[in-house]
Amino acid sequence: MTFDDQEYLHRYPFIDRILITSEDIQLRVRQLANEISRDYEGTVPILVCILKGAYPFLADLTRCLAIEHEVDFMAVSSYEGGTQSTGVVKIEKDLTCNITNRDVILVEDIIDTGLTINHLVELLRTRNPRSIRVAALLDKKPARTKEADLHYTGFEIPKEFVIGYGLDYDEKYRNLPFIGIMKA
Ligand code: IMP
Repeated sequence: MTFDDQEYLHRYPFIDRILITSEDIQLRVRQLANEISRDYEGTVPILVCILKGAYPFLADLTRCLAIEHEVDFMAVSSYEGGTQSTGVVKIEKDLTCNITNRDVILVEDIIDTGLTINHLVELLRTRNPRSIRVAALLDKKPARTKEADLHYTGFEIPKEFVIGYGLDYDEKYRNLPFIGIMKA
């Protein structure tokens, strides 16, 4: 745990514990970036950040990439606030770039039921990209209701509601540098 993580714990007493420290996140993100840089050498992939939760992951990941790349953003909503999935995936903001014949990497914060990512991959496939892969920081495997094909995964986590590093509870706590669990 870094000094920063410790500070946030004091500031936010409702956090029960840290599941993944900021240090471990940064280390793993760098490893994923190295993998992606190797796999996509000689190409210029488009990294699609799924808003809002994936913004810190995209920022840290792209800063570590050793290849040329582009970024774009999509916003979807699958949660109506609180901690329960509604199962409804709504496109709030679409891509601005054309992905036809391009290599696309969807950058997601967390795969929970798998509904959101499946919906997005299906949608983007209809636009005929050359390839499409998923990079997810967190994989909450025990919560899966629909199988998801993840190419790059940061960490597998248990079926618990987590906050921090882009992940929110009622739109708050995305700023935490670590992945934490709230007190019940
Ligand atoms: P899925 O469609 O159930 O896989 O849910 C994906 C989306 O639900 C993620 O992109 C998050 O926005 C949200 N989500 C799922 N689990 C959590 C969590 O533990 N904390 C915060 N948001 C979550």
